[in-house]
Amino acid sequence: MNRAKLQPAAAAELRISAKAGLFTESVIREMTRLALHHGAINLSQGFPDFAAPAEIKRAAQEAIAADINQYAITWGAKSLRNAIAEKFERWQGIAVDPEREITVCCGSTEAMMSAMLAIVNPGDEVVVFEPFYENYGPDAILSGARPRFVKLRPPDWSFDPEELAAAFGPSTKAIILNTPNNPTGKVFERAELECIRDLCVRWNAYAITDEIYEHMLYDGARHLCMATLDGMRGRTITINALSKTYSVTGWRVGWAIASPELTSAIRKVHDFLTVGAAAPLQEAGALALKSPASYYETLAKEYLGRRDRLLGILAGAGFRCFTPRGAYYIMTDISGFGFPDDVAFAKFLVSEIGVAAVPGSSFYQNPADGRTHLRFTFCKTEKTFQAAAGRLAKLQTTAAARRK
Ligand SMILES: Cc1ncc(COP(=O)(O)O)c(C=O)c1O
Repeated sequence: MNRAKLQPAAAAELRISAKAGLFTESVIREMTRLALHHGAINLSQGFPDFAAPAEIKRAAQEAIAADINQYAITWGAKSLRNAIAEKFERWQGIAVDPEREITVCCGSTEAMMSAMLAIVNPGDEVVVFEPFYENYGPDAILSGARPRFVKLRPPDWSFDPEELAAAFGPSTKAIILNTPNNPTGKVFERAELECIRDLCVRWNAYAITDEIYEHMLYDGARHLCMATLDGMRGRTITINALSKTYSVTGWRVGWAIASPELTSAIRKVHDFLTVGAAAPLQEAGALALKSPASYYETLAKEYLGRRDRLLGILAGAGFRCFTPRGAYYIMTDISGFGFPDDVAFAKFLVSEIGVAAVPGSSFYQNPADGRTHLRFTFCKTEKTFQAAAGRLAKLQTTAAARRK
């Protein structure tokens, strides 16, 4: 795990941009490469190792056969934008205009980047809850935003309203909110969203919400979309994607829903970044979004089973787990294993035990804040869980032997 960030002088010497020198490669994606290298069970990166729904795959094949193989409209095929608007109204009760309020992008990753580049001026501040999905750090750097981090604290990953209020001010352009949350599994409650809303209204700030795990909810948790709160419709950019809900992370189709004024800025940035997302996969996405409610119920039920399976395995292996109420990750506390930090432990786990997970430090601005955490994902098959359980069974004895 080479996590070197460069000083401006070093970046200049290499003749690369100061911005590119300011962040490292993704630790999450590097863990996948290390898992492959060591033949480890990969519980690091959040991609399902099971099949995507057959009818959605068939729709993509049929779209290619029907020669939907040229550029789609740059801000998204009409069929997909209509389907996004229809689903948003069905699930969130908000009517949006697919002609003026939706931009289809290459995954929610590009939607977030396009949204940030569309609203941020150099020096603008963007509030980010921490631990955070690691992309938000480089997103801030690339767009010129100054991130203001606000801690989510275990065990329930709540935030201190005063700390949040102190992070807002006249320079605040936006807050990034990810609910259900990666890596903590937190699902923000109405009172928390209202607290955020009040600050956005007070400081005239936008909320950019990453709702990619909206259908993965457990133990009665309910997803609340920030755009539905009074006063937030016009100041929220709602980001989502096909990736997680339909188990097609490699398709790279996502979108941003925002007011017409914001959308026209997002569309311009998106156009010159990527021109557009894959045309045949957008057609398949239009079909996916028409899935009946039973599809999402089954999805959540199956993920609940996987969550409980992995919680059992990890607890049995000696991890202290923070039970997630949403998304598909489990944050753990590794302090009981006696390693100097999360990176040392993750290296040991992938190379000597044969299980890959993500070091907690990659979700914090200051790596020391994540040194007692490790994140595992449970978007995996029973076969993967069995293999992981077999390997983790030797964890405590191997770690103890190593300490001697
Ligand atoms: C919170 C969050 N947002 C975005 C993404 C990436 O989404 P996409 O595949 O749509 O780019 C991930 C992937 O792990 C994620 O966890």
